Amino acid sequence: MSSINYSEKIPNNINLAEDRTLQRALEQWQPNFLNWWDDMGPDGSQNFDVYLRTAVSVDPQGWAQFGHVKMPDYRWGIFLNPGEADRKIHFGDHKGEAAWQDVPGEHRANLRRIIVTQGDTEPASVEQQRHLGLTCPSQYDLRNLFQVNVEEGRHLWAMVYLLHKYFGRDGREEAEGLLERRSGNADNPRILQAFNEKTPDWLSFFMFTYFTDRDGKFQLCALAESSFDPLARTTKFMLTEEAHHMFVGESGVGRVIARTCAAMNELKTDDVGKLRAAGVIDLPTIQRYINFHFSVTIDLFGADQSSNAAAFYSSGLKGRYEEGKRTDDHVLKGNTYKILDVVNGQLVEKDVPMLNALNEVLRDDYIKDSVGGVERWNRLIEKAGIPFKLTVPHKAFHRSIGTLAGVKVAPDGRVVSDQEWNARVDEWLPSAEDRAYVASLMGRVIEPGKFANWIAPPVMGINRQPVDFDYVRFN
Ligand SMILES: [Fe+2]
Ligand SMILES: [Fe+2]
Repeated sequence: MSSINYSEKIPNNINLAEDRTLQRALEQWQPNFLNWWDDMGPDGSQNFDVYLRTAVSVDPQGWAQFGHVKMPDYRWGIFLNPGEADRKIHFGDHKGEAAWQDVPGEHRANLRRIIVTQGDTEPASVEQQRHLGLTCPSQYDLRNLFQVNVEEGRHLWAMVYLLHKYFGRDGREEAEGLLERRSGNADNPRILQAFNEKTPDWLSFFMFTYFTDRDGKFQLCALAESSFDPLARTTKFMLTEEAHHMFVGESGVGRVIARTCAAMNELKTDDVGKLRAAGVIDLPTIQRYINFHFSVTIDLFGADQSSNAAAFYSSGLKGRYEEGKRTDDHVLKGNTYKILDVVNGQLVEKDVPMLNALNEVLRDDYIKDSVGGVERWNRLIEKAGIPFKLTVPHKAFHRSIGTLAGVKVAPDGRVVSDQEWNARVDEWLPSAEDRAYVASLMGRVIEPGKFANWIAPPVMGINRQPVDFDYVRFN
């Protein structure tokens, strides 16, 4: 593995200097990327010096360095985890054959589609979050937002590298398209619906980084199994950065809960009106935000039965989560999996060929993983002595993709009539009033060590810096 050459324009560990064609393609794309960052990156932040982590190597012991940098000067680099000598394909019809170092012609279109779909989510989330800096609850949180944003930018670079290096002219066109689509734009939207939703406030941001960045984790884990070795190695390194994004979400929601519980105990009340008058976010509203973000995010895994999912697996493009740890035959022909079906308006389990249900398999793995953090949030509530439990909603709740899109289901899994749904939807999903209340709390707190009233300070700072460190210098 070569070390990173910082004398080059684009930091990398891929011997970029020796590949003049690729270098030229990327150096042409880079100014367009910077224009996109200018237009769609964090609002009004170009001149701030931000205490950021920058990837400088793939050595697990010291892969990043921290320092104050202006975001447009961030060194977005290209890093792949080291290759495994003689890596073999370990699932699907090609199991046992050598992993591909290049794109096989017959899988070209599907691989390109997978890479573009993943790549499209990265700039999309930056666009969704671009106004949040104006209402940050603290400098610490502002820094975390910017950290997530620059790393999503680097994830875009990671996918663009693959497109430029392995997909020729089509790849270059797709790389341009990634800078042209816009989150929420009616004419040229981002590919996946959850990435066209707004992230209007910081509670939404924390929910997004907890739930939706975790979808990213599961997609990247599935791609890290790919027979196309460069894709596997790129996504493995992206996962290193992804962990912090989910930490921002889990600890962010946890701090909102901690602050609310403290206010409930001070005021000795669970009355929503009194808690809102005290300027904290009541637990039922937090539950409704969970219901929204969880349901929108699990749609991202796609239809519960999908012949594409089967083809992607059998042809070795995309594995399962932790494919290598599973003890079945990794081919899955003849295996079945239970999915939910709707019969006479009721939910019933049904066995289907597992290959066709691989979206559902990944969704179920995701659900297991996301429940963990919710349990940790519950421990905060329990420790405060408050009898309230947060839950993730039933997986049939508020779905727009697949079989379950056809039924109205309450968070507890009961199929309900349209009438009941309409009467109770404001108990289950954030209402306009909830959103307006949360929006009303959003002000800008930027004095070092100060925090907005609705959120508790973190237990510790970033990279062992104190909580009141000057994470952002505004100049
Ligand atoms: Fe990402
Ligand atoms: Fe992320």
